[in-house]
Amino acid sequence: MPRQQRFGSTEFELAAGLPAGSLDARTRSLLEETPLFFLPLNENAQQKIRAEVQAEIDRGFTVVGQHRAGVWRDAWQDHLDEFVRSGHALEALNPRFVGGTSILRWQGAYVEGVTSRFELAFLEIFRDWLFRTYLSDIGHLYEFGSGSAFNVAAYARLFPAVGITALDWAPAAVALADLLHSKHGMKIAGQRFDFFVPDQALDLSVDGGVLTMCALEQIGDRFGPFVDYLLDKRPKRVVHVEPILELYDPASPHDAAAVRYHSQRKYLSGLLPSLQELARQGKIQLRKVHRLHFGSRFHECFCLIVWEPGPRQ
Ligand SMILES: C[S@@+](CC[C@H](N)C(=O)[O-])C[C@H]1O[C@@H](n2cnc3c(N)ncnc32)[C@H](O)[C@@H]1O
Repeated sequence: MPRQQRFGSTEFELAAGLPAGSLDARTRSLLEETPLFFLPLNENAQQKIRAEVQAEIDRGFTVVGQHRAGVWRDAWQDHLDEFVRSGHALEALNPRFVGGTSILRWQGAYVEGVTSRFELAFLEIFRDWLFRTYLSDIGHLYEFGSGSAFNVAAYARLFPAVGITALDWAPAAVALADLLHSKHGMKIAGQRFDFFVPDQALDLSVDGGVLTMCALEQIGDRFGPFVDYLLDKRPKRVVHVEPILELYDPASPHDAAAVRYHSQRKYLSGLLPSLQELARQGKIQLRKVHRLHFGSRFHECFCLIVWEPGPRQ
C-alpha cells in the first residue's frame, strides 16, 4: 500500500516555482494549520484512471461559449439562494465544482487527495499567497468572471481597505458580490460584464489590479476583445489563473488526456501566444508564466500568467 504524503512547504515551493527554502512564514503556517495529505498512485492505478478519463471524454462534455449564459445564470442563482439560506455564511460561497473530485493531477501523475476537498484547501492557501505576492500593491481589485465571489471575499479579508469590483455576466454573481458589501461590510461592488462585449465605458483605476480565475477558460479563443479592453484601460497589473493549453506537453500521455479534455470543451486557447506577441512588440511586460503542475481530475486550471501594460505607445 502506498503511504500517504504531505503537501507541505517543499511541495508548495515546487508548485509555485519558488527557490527551495524561500516560502514565506504565513504560507508555511497556513500549510501547518490545514495539513494537505495525498496518496501517490502506482502505474496500474495511473492507467486505470487515464482509461476512465478517456472514456468520460469519449462520452462527451458540454462545450463552453456564448450559449452557456443561461447555465451560469442558473448555477449562480442556486448559489445565491444557498448563500441567503445559510445566513450569508462565507463558506456557502465555495463553488461545488472546486474540490469535487479526490483524483488530482500533480507533477505529471494522478494522485488521490486524502484531505477532504483537497483542491479547495490548496486553492485557499495558494490564493492567499497569490494575492499577497502579486496584488498587495494595488489601489483597487477587479475580478472578471467572479462567479460565487469567494475569491473577492478572500481578498477583502486580507486587504479590507482596498475597494473591489466583482464582474460577471450572470446577474446572481453580481448580487452575491453586492451581498458581501451589505451583509459583511466588505468594500465590494458587483457589476455586469461580458467578456465577449466589454463595456468600454467601464474605466479601471491606474493603480488597479485585474484578476481572472478559471474564467477566461470559458471563452475559448474569443479573448481578443477583453485583452484589447485591458490594453486600452491600462490597469497596473493583470493576474490570470487559467488552464493554458500551450503549457501542456502533448508528448506525455498524462498531458494528452488534459489536452483532449480542454480541446473538447473548447476551453481557452491562444491567450499565452497572444500575450507573448504583445510582449515582443513592447506593448506589455510579461512578469510570470508558470504552470503549477497541479490540477483536478481532467485538467489544470492552476497556470499563472502575470503581465503589466508597457509604456503607452
Ligand atoms: C468556472 S467559473 C469561475 C468563477 C470564479 N472566478 C472562480 O474562481 O470560481 C467561470 C465564470 O465565468 C463567468 N463567465 C463565463 N463566460 C463569461 C462571459 N462571456 N462574460 C463574463 N463572465 C463569464 C461565469 O458566469 C462564471 O462565473
